[in-house]
Amino acid sequence: NIRVIACGTAMHAGMVARALIEPRLRIPVTVSIASEFRYEEPLIDDSTLTIVISQSGETMDTLMALRHAREQGSKVLAICNTQGASIPRESDAVLYTHAGPEVAVASTKAFVAQITAAYVLGLYLAQVKGAMYRDEIAQTLDSLKDMPRKIQWVLDTQTKTVQEAAKQMVDAKSFLFLGRHVGYPVAMEGALKLKEIAYTFTEGFAAGELKHGPIALVDEGEPVVFIVPPARGRNVLHAKVISGIEEVKARGAYIIAVAEENDPDVERYADVVFWRPACPTLMSPLVDVVPLQLFAMDMAKLKNY
Ligand code: F6R
Repeated sequence: NIRVIACGTAMHAGMVARALIEPRLRIPVTVSIASEFRYEEPLIDDSTLTIVISQSGETMDTLMALRHAREQGSKVLAICNTQGASIPRESDAVLYTHAGPEVAVASTKAFVAQITAAYVLGLYLAQVKGAMYRDEIAQTLDSLKDMPRKIQWVLDTQTKTVQEAAKQMVDAKSFLFLGRHVGYPVAMEGALKLKEIAYTFTEGFAAGELKHGPIALVDEGEPVVFIVPPARGRNVLHAKVISGIEEVKARGAYIIAVAEENDPDVERYADVVFWRPACPTLMSPLVDVVPLQLFAMDMAKLKNY
């Protein structure tokens, strides 16, 4: 089994890592918040691989969790951005993300790099365990290498829309961010960015939970951000997310959607759409997070933070 441990943004990357690794490799993968890990009294031994994810490599909660895992006999692999930091030094192995220094507080490019590293690790494990054919692995790597071009497309074509949306929403008191499957950690990450740099109250959660309470918060004009899965492939989830949009729309919410180009359902219901080009669903977080990072930045600028 694999235990992924991290905090904040890195934990959201860990949630994406789980979605990449467990279904494909049929290895149980759990994700823990580092500060909770020791107190969960986790069942770990020398057959456990612990993966710690950290941009700085110095986060104390993650470091303490790493030490706990090693004391229980687990091997620890660090996914880290900072050469020679405490976390990689105390781990058995390191996969450096080489994203360059995160100069501002917010972890942004590091998030994208952490997911990419998890992908590469997942493909390597698939190769070692014979869970994927060689050509399938090669094709997946090619798709991964194509992702920077898709991110660039978002930066080239969506920036204005994001700025306009921020202008329109600058006085909003709170935001809800919703997603499913790999869109769920993206929703949590979009919410975290807006809290962290634009000091705005947000909640990020699984879109399926909407009806279990949070719908009560949705009122006239409440901004709700939906990460919409593509209509292709996992179309069951697409229909479910669209029905969530319809539900909050009926209550007068202001809908911001992050969606794949040419999605007529999204066009019909959303007030604003941050489009992205088509890409494999499991790689979509790499692109979907970018307009949300830009949105948080624009909101922070407009509020003079
Ligand atoms: C978000 C952010 C924090 C960090 C978290 C873990 O932008 O900066 O949520 O992601 O404190 O930090 P690292 O990755 O350095 O362990």
